[in-house]
Amino acid sequence: MTEDKVPSLNPEELTSRATRFYSRYERDLEQIKEILNIRLNQLALAYTIKNRLPPEAIQVTSRVKSIKSFLHKLERKNWPQFYYPTEIVSDLIGARVTCWFVDDCTGIHEFIKKSNHLSVQGQPKDYIAKPKISGYRSIHLTANVNYDAVRHDEFGNVKVIDDKMKCEIQIRTKIQDAWADLTHEFHYKAGSAGITNETYERMMSEIAERLASEDRSLIHLRDAYQQCAEEKLANDERESFRER
Ligand code: GTP
Ligand code: MG
Repeated sequence: MTEDKVPSLNPEELTSRATRFYSRYERDLEQIKEILNIRLNQLALAYTIKNRLPPEAIQVTSRVKSIKSFLHKLERKNWPQFYYPTEIVSDLIGARVTCWFVDDCTGIHEFIKKSNHLSVQGQPKDYIAKPKISGYRSIHLTANVNYDAVRHDEFGNVKVIDDKMKCEIQIRTKIQDAWADLTHEFHYKAGSAGITNETYERMMSEIAERLASEDRSLIHLRDAYQQCAEEKLANDERESFRER
C-alpha cells in the first residue's frame, strides 16, 4: 500500500487508540519499569562499590509516562500516526539516574553500555559533553529491557515469549537535575503560551553554565570520599562506611 493510501487517524481516533493501549498494557508497563529500575540500581551499586563511593552517590528513579502526558506530547508533535505508542516515543518508560558528581555520569553510562541485561540502542545524546543552547545538560540513551511476555498462539495455547521494550534513560548530576526541573515548564510551556523571552532564556543558560562550574568544583568532594573509604579499608572498617 503506498503511503497516501494509508488512512490517517484524526486526533480523536489516536486518543482512543492510546487509551486502549494504556488500559490493556498498564500493568505490563509498571512491571517493566520495575525491571528497569532494578537493573539500573544493580549497576549503580556495583559502580559505587568499585569507585569507593557512598551508595547514595548514584540514585535511580523511574516512571511510566501518564496517558495525559503522552497525549500532550502527541499534540506537541502534531499528532503523528502510530499503531503502538512506542513507535513514536521512546520514553513511555523512563528512568533517571542522578549522580552527585559529574564524572560519574560518564562512568555509569559506560557501565550501562556493558550491561548484559539492558541493550543500548542507537547513539546516545550527550548533552553534558555538548549542552543544548538552553543550557540543558544530561545524557540520554535508549535501551531495550527484556521481559517474559505471555501470549496465546493460534490454537489458544499460552506461550511465554522473550519480549523487549524500548525505554529511555537520562543521566545527569543532582545540580543539572534541579536546573532541568526548574526550567522544564518554562522551556516547554512558555513558547506555546506565546511567551518567548530571550532575556529569560539567556539568563537560564548562564545559570546552567555557572552550575556546571560548581559541578566541576564538587569533584574535590568525590576525591575526599574516596580517600575516606581508603582509610576505612586500611583499618578494616569497610562495612561501617556503607552503613546508612
Ligand atoms: P522529545 O520528543 O520531547 O523526547 O524530544 P527529543 O526526542 O528530541 O528529546 P530531547 O533529548 O530533546 O528531550 C527529551 C527530554 O529531555 C524532554 O522531554 C525534557 O524532559 C528534557 N529536556 C530536553 N531539553 C530540555 C531543555 O532545554 N530544558 C529542560 N528543562 N528540559 C529539557
Ligand atoms: Mg525523546
